[in-house]
Order: sequence, then C-alpha cells, then structure tokens
Amino acid sequence: MSNIGSYDQRIKGFSWSIAEKELDYQQDGDINIGWYCSDRICRQGKGDKLALIWQGATGNEKRYTYNDVRRASNTIAKYLVDLGIHPGDRVCLFMDKIPELYIGLVGILKSGAVAQPLFSAFGDEALLLRLKDAQTSAIITQRKHAGKVRNILSQLPCLEHVIIVDYDGKKPLQEREKAFSLEDMPPVEDFESYPAKAETHSMLHYTSGTTGQPKGVKHVHDSLVSQYLTTKWVLDLRDDDIYWCTADPGWVTGTSYGVIGPWSLGVTQCVTDIGFSADNWYAFIEKQRITVWYSAPTAIRSLMKAGDEVVKKYDLSSLRHLVSVGEPLNPEAVVWSQKVYGKPFHDSYWQTETGSIMISNYPGMEIKPGSMGKPFPGITAAILDPINYEPISEPGVVGLIAFQPDWPARMRTYWNNEATFQNKFRNGWYLPGDRGRLDKDGYFWFVGRDDDIINTAGHLVSPFEVESALLEHPAVAESAVVAKPDEINMEVVKAFVALKPGFAASDDLELNIMNFIRKKLSPLAMPQEIEFVDSLPKTRSGKIMRRLLHAREWGEAIGDTSTLEDNE
Ligand code: PRX
Repeated sequence: MSNIGSYDQRIKGFSWSIAEKELDYQQDGDINIGWYCSDRICRQGKGDKLALIWQGATGNEKRYTYNDVRRASNTIAKYLVDLGIHPGDRVCLFMDKIPELYIGLVGILKSGAVAQPLFSAFGDEALLLRLKDAQTSAIITQRKHAGKVRNILSQLPCLEHVIIVDYDGKKPLQEREKAFSLEDMPPVEDFESYPAKAETHSMLHYTSGTTGQPKGVKHVHDSLVSQYLTTKWVLDLRDDDIYWCTADPGWVTGTSYGVIGPWSLGVTQCVTDIGFSADNWYAFIEKQRITVWYSAPTAIRSLMKAGDEVVKKYDLSSLRHLVSVGEPLNPEAVVWSQKVYGKPFHDSYWQTETGSIMISNYPGMEIKPGSMGKPFPGITAAILDPINYEPISEPGVVGLIAFQPDWPARMRTYWNNEATFQNKFRNGWYLPGDRGRLDKDGYFWFVGRDDDIINTAGHLVSPFEVESALLEHPAVAESAVVAKPDEINMEVVKAFVALKPGFAASDDLELNIMNFIRKKLSPLAMPQEIEFVDSLPKTRSGKIMRRLLHAREWGEAIGDTSTLEDNE
C-alpha cells in the first residue's frame, strides 16, 4: 500500500492540517525548516540513522547521521550568527554537490538567514547579477569557485563575507575571505534555531523571466507543509527507503526534494557528484541500493539512448518507485522504463514559483503515458480560456494551466518585483505560464509554454537574456533567440543574428561571438547554433517576431502574419 492510498479518498475533504498535525506544527507556532530537517528527527529517536550518503567522483564516500547533520548545521548556523549575519540576510550557497551544500542549507535556515542557492557552473556575470539583485551578505563556496567571486567582489559592497569550505592554506586568503571547515570546527551540540514563523522568508531561488533579468522567487518557512506532504504522497518516501534525487540544489528540485522533503521525513538520501553516464548512474543505484529515484526527462531519454543491454549489467532490483520532473515526459520514456526497470516513471509537474509538486501521477493510480496526472489533493487546478480566463469545462481543449492561489509552498512575491508577481494572476487564478489540456478523466496534459521561455534539459532560459548578451557584441545589430528541437534535451537554444554594416558572417565570427557571450551567460543558456541572417522578421511596430522563427524551426504552420512589416 502506498502512502497516499486512494487518491480519490484523499481529495475528499482534504486539508493541509493533515501535514501540520504530522509535523506537530501549531498555527502561529515556530516552523523553522532547518530545525525540522535535523533536530526534530533526532528527537524522534532517529539521531543515529543515516541522513546522507555522499559518493564522490572517485567512489570515495562520506556518511552523515541525523545527529551529524544536526551538529554540523548548528556549527554553520552559529558561525553565521557570530559573523554578524542577521535574520533575513541573504546567504548564498555556491558549491558543487558536496555535503557542505546540503548541510549548509539546513544551517542557514536554522540561523534565520535566507538561503540563496546558485548553480556552481555559473560564470562571473551570472553570479554578479543574482548577488547584486539579492544584496547578498555572505557566500559559502569552494576554493575552485572563489576566483569567480574575487572577479566581481569590487561590484558587491554588500557581500561582506566569502566563506571557503575547503581552504588548504596554500595561497593567502584575499579580501573578505574566511576559511571554514566543518571537519576542523568544534561541533556545536546545542543551537537555538531562529524562531521562524510560517511567513518568515526562507529561500530565494532565481528563475528566468520572459522579458527581464532573472527573478528572485521568495519562499517562506510555511513551504515545509507542502514539501513534506508531497514528498510523502508523490515520492512515496518511507522510513526504510534509500532515496536519490538527481537534481542540483542550485535549482528548486534539489532543495524542495533534495533536502527539505527527504530530511523532514527522516529518510536516508544519497548524493553523488559523479558525471552522467548510464554506467555511472546504474552502478550508483546498484551500490547504494536506491529504492526511490527522482530524476528528469533529459536524463531518462539519455538512458534510453544508452540502450537496454547496459541495464542488464546491473542489479537494479532495489528500485521501488520512479518519479520525473522538469520537462515533458514523453510517453515512450514511461513505456520504456516499465520495460527495462519493471517500473514506470511517474511524471510530476511544478515550478520554482509553486515551491512544491502541483500535478502528478500517484503510486497506485493508473498512469496515462504522456499525461502529467492529476492535481495534488488541496490544489485546485484548471485549464483557462486565454481571453476571459474562465475555466474550460470541455475536455481536450487547449488553454492556460492555472491554480487557485493558496497552498503553503507558493511563492510570496518576486524579490523587489511585486508588479511582475501581480502580473502572474488573472481573474483570481495563478498562471504558471504553461499551456495544457484536461481529459474527460481529469488528467492534465502538458502542451507547451505560453511564453517564449526555452526549456532545455529542464532548465529555463530566457531569450531576452541571451539576446541582451548578443547585442553587447560589437558586430551584432539585432538578434532573436528561439528553441530548436533536440532528441535528448527536447529543446536547445538557437540564435539568429543580423550583423552591423562592415561585418561579414564567418565561422570565426560565430566562435568569437560564442566566446564573448559565454562570459555573460550560464553554460546552460548558451546557444548551440548561431544562424546569420540579413534581417529579422518584425511587426509593423518594430517588435521582433520570435514566433515565426520558432515555427520555422519546428516545421509548424506560421499562422497569422498580417502584422508583419514585410506585408506592408
Ligand atoms: O514549463 C514547465 C516546465 O518547467 C517549468 C518550471 O521550471 P522551473 O521553475 O525551473 O522548475 C523546474 C522543476 C520543478 C514549468 O513551468 N515543467 C516542469 N515540470 C514539467 C514541465 N513541463 C512538462 N511536464 C512536466 N512534468
């Protein structure tokens, strides 16, 4: 029997108080996520249970019990407080998937500061933009990434502390840098976690917008209520599970379900920094006896491509439940996983802003391959018509995916950007920016984004950001960036560029432009291809029509072109 039991029974009379009771949380009481993920589990008598099994690239392992996580996160929290970090200050985590990243998140939350995780592959400018916007006070990083921080430090007067977790003493520490080693610091047995209330700011995740720079998504400690229950009912985590979430905590999946969900349930989780290959991943599952696996469609498609034979080399019989997130999960992947692993991947749909899973296929419920499943109990979801923003009752009609705006993990606003936040609502509904349809059985089907955002391998890329970077190059007159189909990543980034007079298209120029924008963009946002064109299609008012270029790449009908400049 799964944790959720009968979905139909669960949705009847559902209330989030189910989770609140299990968490012993009283309205208006304290709800510090960091405390819930460590101290509370120890109080339940699970202090000696493994919280984290970490496997490095060479197969080396580190193991942490809940008591270890409790003490180590106390040490980090106390260190931050002693440095003068105040509740509400932003503290950035900028590390590879090492234990300090996971334990550091718990420590920051315990201190009352706001955790701002950023993907460690970000370059100087991507980092600068996000630290400047958040007015971040401290960054916790590794030696290998400290150089990027040094390059931008002079532009960040607010960033008072650069904390290096693996300082080896070989080179002198530079301005504002501090060495902090969990192994060398005396463990702190007792630390009074900051008495966070439901609405106390907890996390700041950055996500791409359509028209502006990346936006900070503000979450609060109350998100624990949704994250705890969705982990229990969607990921079906139980006390004896060994869980693996493949996502990097630079993104929301890696925090909501790579730290908070499993640890608030007191489950053992495994993490590896090893690079992707079918052999690496299967060997990891075999060695750690993984039971529940939360991954993403691009990885599943890559495993499919690696073939069925490699699966047979490994004992994957420990796997009990498989879940996917981040991009459309194609039906073939569901059917294939059933064939080779004996278990289907269950799709789950949500986004940074929702903070927790919104629509999913639940264990025990019939899966329709290609469908995202049904709304989580307590979530009111609908497909709206895009003109009046009223729910469409007729099955099969494509419209806007929408949610009634109240569940504990929903974002509270965009950081310093309340207007953009308000603009996400229509007629009382929250719009995530996606299109979908609903079938007669109440299953939701994903159709596509409702904006120009590109989802490449599960990472959202704003065309605006890439175009802005291109326009800074001296040879570029105008540019338009769209998604191009790709077998594994579903979509990749393609740039169209018109050159200024005096510049001629060439392979050398393409390389030169690529190298120029590489410094400004996250590696995931880099175009796979630049196509030089004489001019770009524009509306009569001069707006570049990405839609036409997109349709061409996807072999779709171009649609209404009556507003095109060339038609005049
Ligand atoms: O477009 C949807 C797509 O990813 C977006 C959210 O991206 P992000 O905020 O980076 O969070 C990703 C991890 C939760 C959504 O608006 N998306 C997410 N899950 C699915 C999906 N598209 C199709 N099917 C999904 N299961």
